[in-house]
Amino acid sequence: MDDVRTAGRGIVAATAKIEARGVQVHYGTTHALKDVDVSILDHAVTAFIGPSGCGKSTFLRCLNRMNDTIASCRVTGKITLDGEDIYAPKVDPVQLRAKVGMVFQKPNPFPKSIYENVAYGPKIHGLTRNKGELDQIVEASLRKAALWAEVKDRLDSPGTGLSGGQQQRLCIARAIATGPEVLLMDEPCSALDPIATAQVEELIDELRSSFSVVIVTHSMQQAARVSQKTAFFHLGHLVEYGETAEIFTNPKDPRTEAYITGRIG
Ligand SMILES: Nc1ncnc2c1ncn2[C@@H]1O[C@H](COP(=O)(O)OP(=O)(O)O)[C@@H](O)[C@H]1O
Ligand SMILES: [Mg+2]
Repeated sequence: MDDVRTAGRGIVAATAKIEARGVQVHYGTTHALKDVDVSILDHAVTAFIGPSGCGKSTFLRCLNRMNDTIASCRVTGKITLDGEDIYAPKVDPVQLRAKVGMVFQKPNPFPKSIYENVAYGPKIHGLTRNKGELDQIVEASLRKAALWAEVKDRLDSPGTGLSGGQQQRLCIARAIATGPEVLLMDEPCSALDPIATAQVEELIDELRSSFSVVIVTHSMQQAARVSQKTAFFHLGHLVEYGETAEIFTNPKDPRTEAYITGRIG
């Protein structure tokens, strides 16, 4: 196993982008998340770690109301984005998801061209007035996703024809295209080879200059490499949250220590 390196990538400005207070999630009778409080910073990468089934994906999905799409799922407590309650009746979850974009474990490009994959969100949200503006958004999004150089001469080719790592960067470009402020990534590298993983990790580090990034990862090495803040979940509880370097070198809770030293997991 590699050394768990601590992220020496600088201390981040302490502006909370998302605040969660007393968040509980039930799926039918399963109590999946128990009283979670956390403040997620802007312009920083926050890693969610913890054993399988501890509630990482469930909590991530609370942050853009993806859990709304699961019939048995009930979310209570309060989550704000820039101080606004994202569960308020006036909030349209589709608009919310344009602001809080999501990237999944398995790259899932639409069965459309590279161009259309990125143009899709801006089109359905009516973000552009003409083809020229749309072209600009597509190019800017592909550049931010570090994919432009590789695809600029084949924008009309199918997105599904790209390599796995390129497909994941295409999905990141697609998420960026709607002008989000937060990017949620659920184990975005777990289907990628080590080289593609390294490229996506480097990209994540660049993305934090523009976004608040939250990444679920089962790799503690990855959390240490890419994040400034880490939250450790265990059995539905957010056990410990803090500076990534602190969590990995000086955990306060015995459950965190047991997990990072490989005694639970
Ligand atoms: N769609 C769902 N329906 C019912 N139970 C679910 C669903 N998704 C997750 N759960 C349950 O919620 C708990 C947390 O799961 P999850 O958030 O997927 O954990 P993690 O991402 O940390 O592996 C588990 O007990 C899991 O079985
Ligand atoms: Mg998960």
